[in-house]
Amino acid sequence: YSLQSLNTFGIEAKAKYFVEIRSIEQYRALLNSGLYAHIPHIFWGGGSNVLLTGDLNALVVKVAIDGIEVIKEDDQHVWVRAGAGVVWHDFVQYTVSHHWAGIENLSLIPGTVGAAPMQNIGAYGVEIKDTFDHLQAFNLSSHNLETFDAEACLFGYRESYFKHEGKGKYVIAYVCFKLSKVANVKTSYGAIQEVLLAKSITQPSIQDVSNAVIEIRQSKLPDPKDIGNSGSFFKNPTLDKNRAAELMEKYPQIPHYPVVGSTDIKFPAGWLIEQAGWKGFKDGDAGVHAKQALVLVNYGHAAGKQILTLSEKIKESILSKFGVQLETEVNIL
Ligand code: EPU
Repeated sequence: YSLQSLNTFGIEAKAKYFVEIRSIEQYRALLNSGLYAHIPHIFWGGGSNVLLTGDLNALVVKVAIDGIEVIKEDDQHVWVRAGAGVVWHDFVQYTVSHHWAGIENLSLIPGTVGAAPMQNIGAYGVEIKDTFDHLQAFNLSSHNLETFDAEACLFGYRESYFKHEGKGKYVIAYVCFKLSKVANVKTSYGAIQEVLLAKSITQPSIQDVSNAVIEIRQSKLPDPKDIGNSGSFFKNPTLDKNRAAELMEKYPQIPHYPVVGSTDIKFPAGWLIEQAGWKGFKDGDAGVHAKQALVLVNYGHAAGKQILTLSEKIKESILSKFGVQLETEVNIL
């Protein structure tokens, strides 16, 4: 079964078997099938954070549980639950159109609702942990649906319980967010301010913020429909204050951000990669995006291994030039 249209990198790879589950009943039926018990399986969301380096000798289970519903509300908040298979941006647009604030800064992030908590998706000053209420996930051993609150998810920067101890043990079925009926827009991110200023918007609505984020993303990040990619390929590295000071002394112009609750400092990997000369680099169909060096791209028929090799070369180059070890953000399969 070809996975090419199921991964935003557009890598030509196949799965031995493929099945889509649209409901909890279908999930239970799958568990009882002989195939599930006898072949390794991989749960699949939007395929927007994976790099396929070969065919998968496995059963790929696409989680396509649908539906958005309000499960609770009071004067100020609304608790909105979405199925894991709902496309993330569709969910954001649904909430913005209902004037429910909290995730508008996360407009246009590729992928599904179910994949969002895996790496605590974040952009433009907001992470999902800020409005996350709880999720429901199947325990793959007991087959029960278990509830996780934010604390249990152990969210961090592009991190969660489900990427570590919980890996391979659960499949996320529903995610519930606590959104606000009173807009409290987050426009501290420089690029958002610039777009609003250019449009003379002084009292932005959540729709204005969403539109601004869409404009920024479209100007910098390649649309997977045109150029295959998985967004940021690496995480932004964090250094302790001594190593950070050394780097800032050597490169006074390097952008840097404080890490909340720590003396560590975060640096943009995109800046390091650009300074090392990789921005716009191309080797066959594998490359580094010309407008955002943190994004590796497939211009057509690159093999996953080619992209992986390029990423390793970039890591080596950043280590030797800056003494900084980059960490991969995308899941390598
Ligand atoms: N920069 C460069 N050259 C580049 C890219 C960036 O000098 O080629 C500099 C920029 O000038 C800026 C700084 O690096 O000073 C930060 O750049 P940007 O605002 O584009 O954000 P980022 O740190 O590169 C992160 C997230 C993105 C998210 C943006 C906006 C990670 C790994 N990436 O990128 O998330 O959209 O911030 O909040 O944290 C993703 O995870 O897939 C993703 C796209």
